[in-house]
Amino acid sequence: MDFRKDLNQIYSVCLEATRTAGKILKDSYGEVKTIDFKGSIDIVTDVDKKAEDEIIKIIKSHFPEHTILAEESGLSDKHSKVKWIIDPLDGTTNFSHGYKCFSVSVAVEIEGEVVVGAVFDPMADELFSAQKDKDAFLNGEKINVSEVKTLKHSLLCTGFYYNVEGKNFAENIEMFKAFSKRAQAVRRDGSAALDLCYVACGRFEAFWEMDLKAWDIAAGSLIVKEAGGRLSDYSGNVFSIYKEEVLVSNEKIFSEMLEVLKPFRS
Ligand code: IPD
Ligand code: CA
Ligand code: CA
Repeated sequence: MDFRKDLNQIYSVCLEATRTAGKILKDSYGEVKTIDFKGSIDIVTDVDKKAEDEIIKIIKSHFPEHTILAEESGLSDKHSKVKWIIDPLDGTTNFSHGYKCFSVSVAVEIEGEVVVGAVFDPMADELFSAQKDKDAFLNGEKINVSEVKTLKHSLLCTGFYYNVEGKNFAENIEMFKAFSKRAQAVRRDGSAALDLCYVACGRFEAFWEMDLKAWDIAAGSLIVKEAGGRLSDYSGNVFSIYKEEVLVSNEKIFSEMLEVLKPFRS
């Protein structure tokens, strides 16, 4: 069966699921009742689970045979060549504190390649989306990475994984320092999916982070790519949503970003 023929339908179901989950987040904003700790500071709320269930319900109603990888419920046991990769609430810590920086991220991978992705920020009503080789969009308008030419004039973003005891924590702080000395400014916003989309639409010039999971970056990475961005690991090697290191940037400052990351390569 040629799944690629179904791409338009897959794309529209992806947008529908992302928007519907976003509405759940927005409706529950400021009213979180149940918070469980997955790790010492890594949380999950009842809203993460509710949004994820709704996304899966929508996907299954159209494509019951597709495989699903979702942050809260894991990998379904289906063996389809089409895999949906879902983060129902990216930025749970922000959400639970009433900080309006969080999103829903839904992507579709076919035979190992991400071909469809959507990231929705329900508070700003911003839907970022892309299909492979068909450009990237924000609320239906085509977007592009920025034209800023130098690191010195760039606004960057990064994020830190929850494990503050882990080996990468000290390195993260050093990287933050190194970029802070060279860039115009550096932010740590707390929703990797949205951070990637902000590079895609030119609000940030670049983003880097370690230890992200496929559901954090599957949709956003396609969106940056389709918006003309560069993606790699810290050594400039081929990007993968399953690798530990993520670097995305506009074309112009990519080599400067790699230069600063040199001492931190794995
Ligand atoms: C987190 C966010 C954050 C990143 C963390 C992720 P979550 O996802 O993307 O920006 O720094 O590493 O785990 O837990 O809010 O879905
Ligand atoms: Ca996440
Ligand atoms: Ca999440």
